[in-house]
Amino acid sequence: MLFTNVLPLLLVAVTAAPDRIVRRQSPAASQKASKVEQLQPVLRKTAQKIRITYGPYKLKGLGSNATLGNAKSLDKDGTSYAHALGADFPHNVTIIDTNTYITNSAGAKLSMESGNVFNHHHLFFDAAHTPNPFLGCGPDAKPLKSIYPKSNFMASATGDIQMRYTSTDGKFNGGFYIGANDSLSFMGDFINYNKEALDMYTVSEIEYVPGKIEGMHTGSSQLLTMDMCGRGLRGATEAAPKDGKMFTKTGDALTILRDGWFVHSRGTLSPGGVDIVMKINDKLICRSNAIYGGPTNSSVTGMSACPEELAVKKGDKLSVAATFDLEKHKPRQGPYPTGLGGPLALWVPMFAEAN
Ligand SMILES: *[C@@H]1O[C@H](CO)[C@@H](O)[C@H](O)[C@H]1NC(C)=O
Ligand SMILES: *[C@@H]1O[C@H](CO)[C@@H](O)[C@H](O)[C@H]1NC(C)=O
Ligand SMILES: *[C@@H]1O[C@H](CO)[C@@H](O)[C@H](O)[C@H]1NC(C)=O
Ligand SMILES: *[C@@H]1O[C@H](CO)[C@@H](O)[C@H](O)[C@H]1NC(C)=O
Repeated sequence: MLFTNVLPLLLVAVTAAPDRIVRRQSPAASQKASKVEQLQPVLRKTAQKIRITYGPYKLKGLGSNATLGNAKSLDKDGTSYAHALGADFPHNVTIIDTNTYITNSAGAKLSMESGNVFNHHHLFFDAAHTPNPFLGCGPDAKPLKSIYPKSNFMASATGDIQMRYTSTDGKFNGGFYIGANDSLSFMGDFINYNKEALDMYTVSEIEYVPGKIEGMHTGSSQLLTMDMCGRGLRGATEAAPKDGKMFTKTGDALTILRDGWFVHSRGTLSPGGVDIVMKINDKLICRSNAIYGGPTNSSVTGMSACPEELAVKKGDKLSVAATFDLEKHKPRQGPYPTGLGGPLALWVPMFAEAN
């Protein structure tokens, strides 16, 4: 059976998380996609591209005592789901790009600014791959270990997250191989701030090349906060200085543990954010800008990415810094899950390993 090892994976994933997660775990039945659409590939002629949709996932309304979901939410108002993916998810393919988000049943993207739904996190795992830390903290470069025992190849958290394994021109030979028999799984946690329950879908646009690409450099990403070595993922939000409308939070200096390349790194910022810059050995090499849009021009609708692959060596130093201007861009309002209100900054580097 393809998916029998998924339940233990989810349980381990969940007990290893820094906060409490799953109490209740129904059998991880594998779930088929509700829709698979063919798209035009963008990065390579040899590639295929699909838009794959899972759901509906019913999210309870705010203040409701309904018991929905099959996993324990990190938030009292949240609804959480975990399940295996069916064989209709592409297998024996090298993934080169993913972009993941949530929508309502009409297909419109959901966020706090548009629909009052908070995407706490949702992650897709491949049980055949184990995360290999590529960054370390402090003078002894203590590895920043993933909180999950298996590799996460596609994700979104607080907003869309694009995980691209190649350069913007598609030429860099990076990817993530999903084997013919790999067990895949999904885990997600969402908070619906509407009174009524809501049907939500997760949507992933995936570009992939059939089979395993010769000589391919396996990519792995890491969600970094500006206080990764201290508060870890809890350091995602910053208290704005009382008087300061504009401020910069500089992250810890991290040490690169292995030779490789950064490909297509980018940030995630809440409204109020201006940019996140990445420095290698104190040299500024990349700036990811918040792109504003939406009905009142106050939603971050995207972030620019660092387009080219950048070679790094073991021992190089990496640091990131996020800048906010709360006068120019109105900070987000409204209720947020504990610890996730206030200006939020995440850096998502994609690291491709030298072979
Ligand atoms: C939820 O349960 C609490 C405690 O039992 C109760 O006070 C509250 O009225 C319930 N809320 C709803 C919407 O049923
Ligand atoms: C996948 O599973 C099938 C059926 O169990 C087996 O014949 C095949 O060798 C496996 N392939 C790989 C790459 O492990
Ligand atoms: C994987 O895909 C490649 C390329 O399409 C094909 O040649 C190979 O036979 C496939 N392997 C399996 C185990 O399905
Ligand atoms: C939105 O903000 C951007 C950047 O500040 C600005 O260039 C643009 O003109 C604004 N658009 C609207 C519709 O206000």
